[in-house]
Amino acid sequence: LDNGLARTPQMGWNDWNTFFCNINESLIRQTADVMVSSGMAAAGYKYVNIDDCWSTMSRDANGDLVADPQKFPSGMKALADYVHGKGLKLGIYSSAGTTTCAGYPASLGYERRDAALWASWGIDYLKYDNCGDHQGRSGQQRYTAMRDALAATGRPIVYSLCNWGQESVWTWGMPVGNSWRTTGDIAANWNSVMGILDQQVGLEAYSGPGGWNDPDMLEVGVGALTATEGRAHFSLWSLLNAPLIAGNDIRSMSAETRSILTNTEVIAVNQDWGGRQGHKISDSGNLEVWRKPMANGSVAVVLLNRGTSTSTVSTTASALGLGSASAYSVRDLWAHTTSSSSGTISASVPGHGAAMYIVTGGGIVPTPTVAIKGVGSGRC
Ligand code: GLA
Repeated sequence: LDNGLARTPQMGWNDWNTFFCNINESLIRQTADVMVSSGMAAAGYKYVNIDDCWSTMSRDANGDLVADPQKFPSGMKALADYVHGKGLKLGIYSSAGTTTCAGYPASLGYERRDAALWASWGIDYLKYDNCGDHQGRSGQQRYTAMRDALAATGRPIVYSLCNWGQESVWTWGMPVGNSWRTTGDIAANWNSVMGILDQQVGLEAYSGPGGWNDPDMLEVGVGALTATEGRAHFSLWSLLNAPLIAGNDIRSMSAETRSILTNTEVIAVNQDWGGRQGHKISDSGNLEVWRKPMANGSVAVVLLNRGTSTSTVSTTASALGLGSASAYSVRDLWAHTTSSSSGTISASVPGHGAAMYIVTGGGIVPTPTVAIKGVGSGRC
């Protein structure tokens, strides 16, 4: 969506993956505090996003949504002011149906009213879900109606579509939203993360500045995911140019979780646009190689081991699309070390783990340019 926002994938936090409906204004304020004090804000995280369950069960006499006075006694405007005072942005949630997924009132048929209310509060980001009755309207119609309502407010609001990949949203998402969920919900375990990864293959033709494929929010530091798994998850989501929306309780995260989420070398890959999001170039059993062209002609690579025991995963500079050279520089984005290679890029990778590198050399390869499908259609 050409609204000037999310020219690189949006970064922030959302309460759902850890707190579900157990939310309130102290959680949001404390999270904003820690976003700054933990170094996450300095690493690029900006949006503090409220998910489902923030409103009362019915609209007021005017037809407006009402923030639950038990959960948000100071009101959303005061909360937005607080978050803005930290140099951060505040996000909210609704659904393109008659109710949200948790059964609260949602925005189908109330798009202009709700968008105007959120803008009056100072909201900067909308996650727009797909639950409730659709009154016979297609996803494209329902999501476009909210796009137009947000634009009519005149306030810059990142627009995150959450229709779980339905109606092949990637084929029409670019002129409608800043990102679009490509799958059902992620869960905090390795099988879920890998299942979602598998559904990203082929979608690299559709994303680009202003509109990103969204494989769902991060589970780094949540549930059963180990630190090794968390590093692999973060490496892959970064390579995919996915929105990086942390889903853990950052107020109590371990130093290890914080170091994963604030690895600025990995984040720099996520925020770089060399013409195509990361994509799989080979798989053999449990071992996979994913690559992404970088704007400066280098190539980022993730060597993934989906098995349970340590294995060597390898590729070559030529397979990564680099020209020939007598030596390549290989930057390890997790060890923060640089080595030299004559062409083989190889690592011993623990089970459920990944290594991530930037490989430079062979001259600046012509950046693979892809016509992004969807650009040029619609109003954007
Ligand atoms: C859906 C979305 C989730 C979350 C919940 C809230 O399942 O996909 O990300 O927003 O609704 O109820």
